[in-house]
Amino acid sequence: MKKLLITRHIAEPVLEQARARFDVTLASAPLSVDDCAEALGAYDAILPTLGDDFTAGAFAKAGANPRCGILGNFGVGYSHIDAAAAAAHGVAVTNTPDVLTDATADIGMTLLLATARRAGEGERMVRAGRWGGFGPKVGLGTHVTGKTLGIIGMGRIGQAVARRGHFGFAMPVIYFNRSQKTVDFPARQVENLHDLMAGADFVVITVPGGAANAKLVDRDALAAMKPEGILVNIARGEVVDEAALIEALEAGRIAGAGLDVYEHEPHVPERLRALENCVLLPHLGSATVETRQAMAQMALDNIIAFTEGRPPPQKVN
Ligand code: DGY
Repeated sequence: MKKLLITRHIAEPVLEQARARFDVTLASAPLSVDDCAEALGAYDAILPTLGDDFTAGAFAKAGANPRCGILGNFGVGYSHIDAAAAAAHGVAVTNTPDVLTDATADIGMTLLLATARRAGEGERMVRAGRWGGFGPKVGLGTHVTGKTLGIIGMGRIGQAVARRGHFGFAMPVIYFNRSQKTVDFPARQVENLHDLMAGADFVVITVPGGAANAKLVDRDALAAMKPEGILVNIARGEVVDEAALIEALEAGRIAGAGLDVYEHEPHVPERLRALENCVLLPHLGSATVETRQAMAQMALDNIIAFTEGRPPPQKVN
């Protein structure tokens, strides 16, 4: 039996399938670079996820021809894996697109609405017994319907958020995408990030993480936002200059932020946690029972295909 390392507990039905086909080792904590290097030499296949450090250094340490032939990543984002280094070492990398698009877009809308309508703040008030009753000026937030929605990165998830905004909330949609992109619903592509930041009432970030987009939303981009603007990040923490965002929120230069991702997860800076004008979620984008099971299934199916000599359908390198 081939040896498979699954780096976190996944949905039971998928785990059972894996156990029927492979000699499975189940880990429960993120793998360091050294752990990754060791695992590459010890297993035929690995099912890793966010937090496992498959850097170029891990592959270098594992040597030229590691035992492992495939990393069937659990997740669409794989910026924790150096896919080019993997390819150079003969390791295939796959991901889990499509199955998490709706769940992640839903979290985008959850954050957009919760931040605009001060839901986090209101909930904290009620739970703390601080609510003094209904009042015409209590808990006033920002109206959502009809406001302009700006999407950074019009990929699958960006389009799903845009559709929700357009069809559900009558929002005019603008988007910034590095390549020319046409979509099948009303939306206007803007020339540059500045125009997106300046033109939108709500900015939702959906670009992939990794070096290409590191600190894409920097101090200048944040400065271009409207003072009543709200930033939502459902992509990766590294895409935003977190320190600059905290400063903008503290100074009230933008109205609020809804964040599902952070620069150094699971660390969330205390200054961010102290702010009332942001809603903070613990990376819940794909976290529904159905979606997480579908992701696990897709990751395992890729590994099965590879070990049976078929091309893994979601290969990215
Ligand atoms: C994804 O699939 O990229 C989610 O963010 C979990 O990693």
